[in-house]
Parts: sequence; structure tokens; C-alpha cells
Amino acid sequence: MSANAWHALITGASGGIGGAIADALAPRCAALRLVGRNAAKLESRCAAIRGAHPNLDVQPVIADVTTADGRARVAAAARDMKCDLVVNNAGINDFVLFDAQSDAAVERMLETNLLAPMLLTRVLLPVLRARKAARIVNVGSIFGYLAYPGCAAYSASKFGLRGFSEALRRELADTGIKVQYFAPRATRTPLNSDAMCQLNAELKVAMDAPEAVARAFLALLDRPSRAESRVGFPEKLFARINQVLPGLVDGSMRKQLPVIRRFAGK
Ligand SMILES: NC(=O)c1ccc[n+]([C@@H]2O[C@H](COP(=O)([O-])OP(=O)(O)OC[C@H]3O[C@@H](n4cnc5c(N)ncnc54)[C@H](OP(=O)(O)O)[C@@H]3O)[C@@H](O)[C@H]2O)c1
Repeated sequence: MSANAWHALITGASGGIGGAIADALAPRCAALRLVGRNAAKLESRCAAIRGAHPNLDVQPVIADVTTADGRARVAAAARDMKCDLVVNNAGINDFVLFDAQSDAAVERMLETNLLAPMLLTRVLLPVLRARKAARIVNVGSIFGYLAYPGCAAYSASKFGLRGFSEALRRELADTGIKVQYFAPRATRTPLNSDAMCQLNAELKVAMDAPEAVARAFLALLDRPSRAESRVGFPEKLFARINQVLPGLVDGSMRKQLPVIRRFAGK
């Protein structure tokens, strides 16, 4: 897709990764819609993008993607702007041991990270089908390959999103719609609690800047034949090892357990 061509809609664009993707994608867009619940943050990001790209049609869409009303609002905006790129990026995380996580928190996690992008994609499919070519990029996580202690519900949601992406990609293989799964590793955004950041520091886990993640996102967008992209070494190698030799990864995570327990839920 050439410059100024995408009609893109990004959920969670008031946050760290979504905001950085919006900034990076803007020069390649004819129209851009930034979705989230925080109107002030979305308005200010739209204003900044408009300042840098005066010819770009950029607008906020204030919507909670976990509600049918919110998804209907997003679908109406997508129809109006003739959307051909959907980035399902909105997400949440709790870093907490599973038996200390409330039922409500588990439900909220699966609703936000898995059910909402699935149902939103479904209401957006007619809009995407009306375009000659279109793209759906689901923002998962390296934890969608490599489940992590203290992130059981989050890992489940991101594994689920990867399964959804794979099935939908195959279901739409004879259409003009391509589906990709994008998996960042730990990134410096408000999604990570202080305890998670302290754990990463103690275990020497690298945390990317959102701008670096946005560059990796653009690289995936430029390769429509790729089904997925994992960001960062050695995480992408561990994800591969986990698929073929999960016992090896079990052993290494078992060694980290006392440290993880010290930080989880703080
Ligand atoms: N940060 C990391 O370490 C990391 C690593 C791998 C993958 N990821 C994934 O990257 C994505 C973005 O995360 P981030 O790190 O940028 O987090 P973030 O800065 O906390 O941003 C999360 C975004 O999701 C939006 N959101 C949450 N619930 C929503 C809802 N019900 N309806 C609409 N929007 C909602 C928030 O917007 P409002 O508050 O305005 O609604 C916010 O814009 C997530 O899917 C996350 O799982 C993050």
C-alpha cells in the first residue's frame, strides 16, 4: 500500500502502543480514526497528528469496545471513512497470581482482550469486504506464545486472540482481507504496573519503547503475506523453543518463580 493510502482505525489509540502506531501510520493514511474511552487523550493525539499532517482526516471515536453500543459506534465510523485497515490493539493486563485474581477481573480481561476484538471484527467485516483489499492486525503479545506466571488470564486471552487470528486468516483466504497477529514483548506503557516493571528490571527483561514497537508494526504491515510477527530477541527464540520443547521453558520459569511471587499482585 503506497503512502497516504490507508483508511485506518486503531483501537486503544489513547494508550502507549496504539498512540505510537497512530503517529507512525499517519503519513501512510488518507483517513485515521482513533478509538478509546478517554476523550481528552484521544482529542489531544488527534490534534498533534493533525498538526503534523494537515491534509489527513483524523478523528477520535469515543467508544468502549466491550459494549455492543461502543462497537456499533466504531462500525458506523468505519463505514463513513471506508475503513480498509483495522488494528485491534485495545487491551488490559493485571500482574497477579491466578488464585488471587477475582472472577470479575478474569472476565474483564477476556472480555477486553479476546471477546471485544472478535465481536468488533465481526461487525467490521461487511465494511472491509466492500473494499478491494483490506487488513486486520490483531495486537497480541509474546505471552500469546509463551504463557507467563502471574499473567494466566492475560496469556489465555492472547493465546485465544492468536487462535482467532489464525482461524479467521484461513476463513478469509479467498477474499481480499488479510489477517495478521502482531506480538510485542514487554513495552514501556501504562499497561505494566510498577511491580511488573520492577520484576522485569530484576530479571533483566528488556522493555521496548512504544515507538520501536510501532516501527515493527509498520514492517509487518509492509509484508501482507506474513501471518504474524514477534517483536524482540531473545523473546521470539524462547517462543519458538516453547513450541517444540516446552519442558525446557518450564524449567527456566520455575527458577524465576520465587521472584515472580514476590512482585505479583503488588
Ligand atoms: N505494554 C506491553 O508490555 C505490551 C506487551 C505486549 C502486548 N501488548 C499489547 O499492546 C496493546 C496496547 O497496550 P499498551 O501497552 O499500549 O497499553 P496502554 O498504554 O495501557 O493502552 C491500552 C489502550 O487500550 C484501551 N482500552 C482498554 N480497554 C478498552 C475498552 N474497553 N474500550 C476501548 N479501549 C480500551 C485504552 O484506552 P482508554 O483507556 O481510552 O479506553 C488504551 O488506549 C494491548 O493489547 C496489550 O495487550 C502490550
